[in-house]
Amino acid sequence: MGLGSDMYRQQILDHYKNPRNYGELEDPDFTHVGENPSCGDTIRMQVALDDAGETIDAVRFTGDGCAISMASASMLSERLHGMSIEELDDLDTDDITEMLGVDISPMRVKCAVLGRQVAQDGSKIYRGELDPDDRTKTEE
Ligand code: FES
Repeated sequence: MGLGSDMYRQQILDHYKNPRNYGELEDPDFTHVGENPSCGDTIRMQVALDDAGETIDAVRFTGDGCAISMASASMLSERLHGMSIEELDDLDTDDITEMLGVDISPMRVKCAVLGRQVAQDGSKIYRGELDPDDRTKTEE
């Protein structure tokens, strides 16, 4: 976790210890699991959309990973609420590091973006743009 203010470190630890939106949705529109190949940790994201199928209504995640991956997925789950599918598509690595508020070393970037990538790939599968058999692996 490079150099960062104590406040952001506290926030990351808090999300790691008390992950928000952790668990399962009863009726998700899509569910996807992805892995960080450098450590084998996985995260599963579930998303429910509004009736129009455009806006994210609810998000749940589960996973077993390091503090950064879990905190990042937890913070992301809060951000995603109310977002459109297009806005989810547009999220990039800078958005995630900004959200975390600390410098992320190149080795830990995969941890930080795992949840985002799983959610994005899940939405692509849902829209038929990605093969469902493709297991997400962070590439950045
Ligand atoms: Fe596995 Fe971070 S060390 S996700």
